[in-house]
Amino acid sequence: MPNPGFETTTSDIISGQSLVGKVALVTGASAGLGIETARSLASAGATVYLLARDRRKLDAAVSTLQAESLAGQLECALLDLADLDQVRTAATGLLAACPRIDLLINNAGVMACPQGATAQGHELQLGTNHLGHFLLTCLLLPALRAAAQVSGEARVINLSSAGHRFAGMDFDDPDYQRRPYDKWQAYGQSKTANALFSVGLDARTRADGIRAFAVHPGAIMTELGRHMNDDDMKQVAASFPGGKMRFKSIPQGAATSVWAATSSELAGRGGLYLEDCQIAEAATADRAGGVESYALDTAMADRLWQLSQQWVGQTFCTN
Ligand SMILES: NC(=O)c1ccc[n+]([C@@H]2O[C@H](COP(=O)([O-])OP(=O)(O)OC[C@H]3O[C@@H](n4cnc5c(N)ncnc54)[C@H](OP(=O)(O)O)[C@@H]3O)[C@@H](O)[C@H]2O)c1
Repeated sequence: MPNPGFETTTSDIISGQSLVGKVALVTGASAGLGIETARSLASAGATVYLLARDRRKLDAAVSTLQAESLAGQLECALLDLADLDQVRTAATGLLAACPRIDLLINNAGVMACPQGATAQGHELQLGTNHLGHFLLTCLLLPALRAAAQVSGEARVINLSSAGHRFAGMDFDDPDYQRRPYDKWQAYGQSKTANALFSVGLDARTRADGIRAFAVHPGAIMTELGRHMNDDDMKQVAASFPGGKMRFKSIPQGAATSVWAATSSELAGRGGLYLEDCQIAEAATADRAGGVESYALDTAMADRLWQLSQQWVGQTFCTN
């Protein structure tokens, strides 16, 4: 493989790898990076479960990939992360279908949407991007543990974003009940939560061989920008050095997820924030990438774990 970096694609990462016998789950696999991540893992022979909330879009994604005659088997299931009851139903079905899960790619996400609430009343971006994935992952731990027992390691990849730099966790008012809603701050909080969840999960499950990583995929033109207007585009572009955003293609954007899921360089490691198929450096004021220290803070990660457990009404990883 050429030196990993901005331009690395999923093909560069997966070329020469075999995932035959592995089972991978990809959330948000009805669009953008999720479809490409599923494609890449299936091309190496993995059995891939595409998970999404919209039956029509999910069927279309599966048909598209089936037409490519990929080496691995494709399966699909409905999953709406904005409703914890539906997450529980999906997890029950997935556990029955997959006694072992090697790779869980928590890719689904919403960005900068108008203020909204999940079925259980949590702010929509935090509820979808973090809380739904928190519950799904914790419920699937028995299958992740079973896979790790067989192969030595299972991995959970949480799609975060450079947008985590917009905001840390506000534990006093995570659901925007007492402060005015800001769609970018709310996205930032949810993406910080994705990174902190990776830290908290890795700490609790590494002894079982389950390792967790956070990924910033880059800036990619996908349906994620469906709520953005011209002013938003200008504001986001202005946050990049020189006011210019450099976009990745979708195969470049999904490459870091596939690298996180498959790289032997990451064996025995976890709780890391990755970008451009590398471990990210600390964020600095003069560039757009990098990871803020608050997104990897173990005390914050523990606090988020406790809050998430309280919100889903269930305790995980107590031993
Ligand atoms: N694209 C970028 O520039 C960029 C940058 C940084 C981070 N990311 C992160 O990368 C991930 C993938 O983004 P993308 O660019 O591929 O976006 P996308 O094209 O909008 O795809 C997002 C996926 O998430 C699904 N989703 C949304 N809400 C859901 C819910 N309640 N339950 C289940 N699935 C839900 C969407 O389903 P529907 O089609 O039904 O809406 C879609 O399949 C996200 O976590 C995003 O935050 C992307």
